[in-house]
Amino acid sequence: MKTVLINCSPKKRFCASAYFLFLQSLFIGGEKVNEKLRTPADHARILEQLRDAQAVVFGLPLYVDGVPSHVLRFLEKMEIFCRENGLKLNVYCIANNGFIEGKQNEPLMQVFENFCTRTGLACCGGVGIGGGVMLNVTRILFVVQIALLVLNTVLSAVHTGNFFPKNAWLSFAENTALLLYFNLGVLFYLSGMGRVIRKGAAFGKKYTRILIPSFVFILFADIFFVIISLLQGGIFRGWLAKKK
Ligand SMILES: Cc1cc2nc3c(=O)[nH]c(=O)nc-3n(C[C@H](O)[C@H](O)[C@H](O)COP(=O)(O)O)c2cc1C
Repeated sequence: MKTVLINCSPKKRFCASAYFLFLQSLFIGGEKVNEKLRTPADHARILEQLRDAQAVVFGLPLYVDGVPSHVLRFLEKMEIFCRENGLKLNVYCIANNGFIEGKQNEPLMQVFENFCTRTGLACCGGVGIGGGVMLNVTRILFVVQIALLVLNTVLSAVHTGNFFPKNAWLSFAENTALLLYFNLGVLFYLSGMGRVIRKGAAFGKKYTRILIPSFVFILFADIFFVIISLLQGGIFRGWLAKKK
């Protein structure tokens, strides 16, 4: 069985869609093909991959309560391609948004349902994920935790000859468990959808979010956006952007 996972985020690097598609791919068997949809130059290549596929998983961000326009352009072409070639694909969708409620992805899911009905494909549902930006940050924090553990182990080995600093391991385990907890809703639904994709069945529409209380989310989001605004568009992106 061949599954094509299409990352539809227009970002070149470090997008939340890539993170969720990576997690999804852990739960899918058979042949998996990862594709990136950013510009019209990607259309023909992706459509060719769909020719002998059984399932396609779109991973995309919510833009203005809907589907990003470059994805709509692709869906228009895909509709013609699937009809002309008589393709029968199972279509799944992993949508993520910046605000906390995953349910906000409902209009986007409806666009995919309408697309499938019109194209004669099986709309097999998907997962709408709230707090996508913050969940994406948890993977950096996990890498930071590993780096800290390695650093602490090296320092402890050099200074005391102890290769197993208990406190460093305890703190690593605590922080990793916390990061895992934030992602539990996502992991629960993506593992379920993985099982369903393997069976070639429909999953239905499910919604989840980062597992933190809304008031904590709002506090951190406010701080984040104030900093981003002060830095005129991004901590790293602002610095690294090409200057005119
Ligand atoms: C142009 C634009 C419109 C957006 N509109 C919404 C929106 O309507 N609701 C929302 O919750 N997040 C919105 N967001 C936030 C994105 O959905 C969020 O940053 C997402 O995690 C990006 O996913 P990606 O990293 O895979 O591209 C918008 C972001 C951009 C750039």
